[in-house]
Amino acid sequence: MKTSSDYLQSLKQRGEKIACLTAYDASFAHWLVEAGVDVVLVGDSLGMVLQGQESTLPVTLDHMIYHAAAVARGAPEALRIIDMPYRSYTSKDQALANAQRLIGEGHGHIVKLEGGEQVLPIVEHLVNKGVPVCGHLGLLPQSIEELGGYKVQGRDDAGAAQIKQDALALESAGICALVLECVPASLAKAVTVSLRVPTIGIGAGVDCDGQVLVLYDMLGITAGKRPSFSKDFLADAGSVQAAIAAYVKAVKQLEFPTLKQSFS
Ligand code: KIV
Repeated sequence: MKTSSDYLQSLKQRGEKIACLTAYDASFAHWLVEAGVDVVLVGDSLGMVLQGQESTLPVTLDHMIYHAAAVARGAPEALRIIDMPYRSYTSKDQALANAQRLIGEGHGHIVKLEGGEQVLPIVEHLVNKGVPVCGHLGLLPQSIEELGGYKVQGRDDAGAAQIKQDALALESAGICALVLECVPASLAKAVTVSLRVPTIGIGAGVDCDGQVLVLYDMLGITAGKRPSFSKDFLADAGSVQAAIAAYVKAVKQLEFPTLKQSFS
């Protein structure tokens, strides 16, 4: 069934790349599904691209539920991952109550949360209670103040080792997929081959099991500077629908990302 995390696992097993994009509303969500996107991420990046915030930190659980429910109405047949926003998973009980709202009221299938060893007890608790969880390692936008800015992570030996260790620990804790953001392509490849669950990269090279981009970045409509690992698919496509279809095709055929959109 396409709305279960088993679907992502089956794509990894048969070596088919997973095409993922963010969506925050019903109309875009509809066109993502029409174009063959495998999984829709309702990301807390909505704080920046929709709300004009400087980071994802001001995004609330109610914001996520509002947008997740809109996406579900636009794409009821899509597999939908919903971000748990900043400070919505600081204890087991709080995380469970909030994840249940994202699934119950936001109609999500999987929740995503950021971090490694510090979130393991939370991940284990959610999974034990039947909540499918996607992990997120590398650049963690919710920890941007601690990280000192939007920088590539895991370039040094210690950082790379920590990401590899965290990935294995998250898999043992029960995650069903892992987003890898802004890490060297060689590190993303090493993590990907070490895991049974699929990795979905953003600025993480072509060897991840799938790719995700912020929709507004790949349509070239994000105001201001866009990340170097993104690509404007609308520029050559002529329509939003064709741009999304071109992205899906490029991901499936390993034509995106290229070295230009990857880090070493
Ligand atoms: O919030 C988001 O859109 C994300 C992606 C950048 C992976 O988490």
